Amino acid sequence: MALRAEIRGHLDDWRRQIEEHLGHCVPSEKTPPQKLHEAMRYAIFPGGKRLRPVLTLAAATAVGGQIEPALPGACAVELIHTYSLVHDDLPAMDDDDLRRGRPTLHKAFGEALAILAGDALLTCAFDTLVSPSTGDPGRRLQAATALARAAGSSGMVGGQVDDLNTAGQQHDRTHVESIHRRKTAALLGACTSIGALLGGGSEGQVALLERFGEQLGLAFQIVDDLLDLDGTESIVGKSLRKDKPAGKLTYPGVYGREASRRKALDLAEGAKREIGCLGTDGEILRSIADDVVERSF
Ligand code: IPE
Ligand code: IPE
Ligand code: MG
Ligand code: MG
Ligand code: MG
Repeated sequence: MALRAEIRGHLDDWRRQIEEHLGHCVPSEKTPPQKLHEAMRYAIFPGGKRLRPVLTLAAATAVGGQIEPALPGACAVELIHTYSLVHDDLPAMDDDDLRRGRPTLHKAFGEALAILAGDALLTCAFDTLVSPSTGDPGRRLQAATALARAAGSSGMVGGQVDDLNTAGQQHDRTHVESIHRRKTAALLGACTSIGALLGGGSEGQVALLERFGEQLGLAFQIVDDLLDLDGTESIVGKSLRKDKPAGKLTYPGVYGREASRRKALDLAEGAKREIGCLGTDGEILRSIADDVVERSF
């Protein structure tokens, strides 16, 4: 219990630092083109759970690193994630009206600006990651490569394409895992590997933490599918009960609720075992893994 409170304290402190750093990444609403920067900031603030940047900082500290050199990586993954949500909600994709407790970006600013604000958030992510004058430039370059691969056509964007292409098709186990691994788990794997890289971890630690993040990412998307079925919209803060009518390929759709819940729990346990060798240094990451499968939003 005391440990849990101590971990909470760290996470709150990291979230504060993430908010502050993100505030400097995106130009202010007063900078032209004002409407574009307003839209970008609307998407980023007040934000959601900030799971991905927190995972990046947790991975950095788990390998003995400091928070400061890992913050550009943490903000970069959140910028990529936020752009992916903006585009995911567009009429041409999931066509959703509610995100992070308020109207989706295209509802508030129009479709063209939502597309362009998403583009600018994606670009801003790489600017944030590669521009700082402090820290090891070689490690930042490796981190940028990891992020590009996880977010691009073989990762998140590829997964999103197949998520749309398979809608309405016969539900199939191999496909659902492949889609979820790419559309969601790849980015979570990048969060932890980037954290380990910027925290000065060894090659082995970077690979280990990437595997941890990917397993947890798959568990995360399974819980997201379950929340779409059983969650409360005012708590989750986004449109729910959409996957089934849209014919989306989901874990509960393929395996049913109970088996999906078990699968998510098994994956989180597997992820925790993966980093067992980190001992107490992996405590915060293990606690985050528990939160991911216990969450109600
Ligand atoms: C939602 O992610 C998109 C998925 C990959 C399921 P989150 O549930 O982390 O969204 P925020 O950042 O908290 O709003
Ligand atoms: C989205 O999956 C994954 C992304 C890459 C954005 P979902 O479409 O299930 O995410 P939500 O439920 O809209 O947040
Ligand atoms: Mg989607
Ligand atoms: Mg969606
Ligand atoms: Mg969903």
